[in-house]
Amino acid sequence: MHVLHVVGARPNFMKAAPVMRALRDRGAQQTLVHTGQHYDANMSDVFFTQLAMPAPDVNLEVGSGSHAKQTADIMSRFEPVVLEGKPDVVLVYGDVNSTVAATLVCSKLLVRVGHVEAGLRSFDRTMPEEVNRLVTDQLADLLFTPSEDGDANLRHEGIPAERIHRVGNVMIDSLVRLLPVAEQHKMNGLPPRYALVTLHRPSNVDDPQSLRGILESLLEISEDLDIVFPVHPRTRQRISEFGINVARLHLLEPLPYIEFLALQRRALAVITDSGGIQEETTYLRVPCITLRNNTERPITVSLGTNVLVGRDAGILKTELKKVLTGKAKSGTIPPLWDGKAGERIAQILNPS
Ligand code: UD1
Repeated sequence: MHVLHVVGARPNFMKAAPVMRALRDRGAQQTLVHTGQHYDANMSDVFFTQLAMPAPDVNLEVGSGSHAKQTADIMSRFEPVVLEGKPDVVLVYGDVNSTVAATLVCSKLLVRVGHVEAGLRSFDRTMPEEVNRLVTDQLADLLFTPSEDGDANLRHEGIPAERIHRVGNVMIDSLVRLLPVAEQHKMNGLPPRYALVTLHRPSNVDDPQSLRGILESLLEISEDLDIVFPVHPRTRQRISEFGINVARLHLLEPLPYIEFLALQRRALAVITDSGGIQEETTYLRVPCITLRNNTERPITVSLGTNVLVGRDAGILKTELKKVLTGKAKSGTIPPLWDGKAGERIAQILNPS
């Protein structure tokens, strides 16, 4: 069986790595296509090394652009790769533009698609990722979900039950494998107690008022607790465009996987608008304060350590106070978030 994997953006490298490893152990022929959506070395190359992934067989080098342009470029460059490679199945990951673009191409070519991390819904179509999720799940032939809520969402949208496979969380597979390495990792120059921040959602960072509001809250918090903030390139661009002074925060470049995991593990709390970090903190039992009004990962709120605070500075500070006084929830790890999701996917694909 020939399995072609499509990755393109930072959050998907750690999802593909465990699936590729499990399929390799079963002797599958595999091709890895990188769309080039993320192209900075510290947003891409370093993840391949740390996750021990093979170098991509093909790089489509699409780079940045509007959503339409980026998606269209991926589609037109990906189509000949599929026609030539003739894969039996194409695996796509998560909810980024690369995911939906590759899925559209395969559907038209009648090539089977498996969507890893299917069924997540924020029910907020102003998020580009929600549109990507809806389209990808309607078109995919195999839907691999991380949790029960994913199955329920898909059934509700009329997806036949036989296409849905609950396999657990592949992102946690990578975490489980590399946590011992992260725990040994020495980080120099870190404050002893800190909150870790990440921020990159267009709704938070592209609007000057909203970005300014969030950063002002963080600056206020930093009077009591150090803030360590590895900055996504989009966010760094906006901070400088809007001329916001953030000198009191510990700003870092985007970090490699192991370094970021080490930072999360040792953080008193994580303040974020990322999707995957809500899951990782739940697994690590580190309090997570999410700067969004909704989440496509509700299990991190119902079972895990996550709380949603929107952009309300008051609630953010109340939640942080709970952390500082030991009153944050400690949560439990959701079922099937056990390091074996990649293996379950490989079993279902059953290459020979
Ligand atoms: C994308 C995903 C988002 C994911 C995030 C993780 C979509 C719709 N969004 O958002 O779901 O959480 O990745 O990072 O696919 N840039 C660089 N270097 C890079 C990559 C990007 O400088 O290597 C800058 C460019 O200015 C670019 C901007 O960041 O225009 C946004 O990049 P893009 O890939 O469009 O979306 P992300 O915001 O990273």
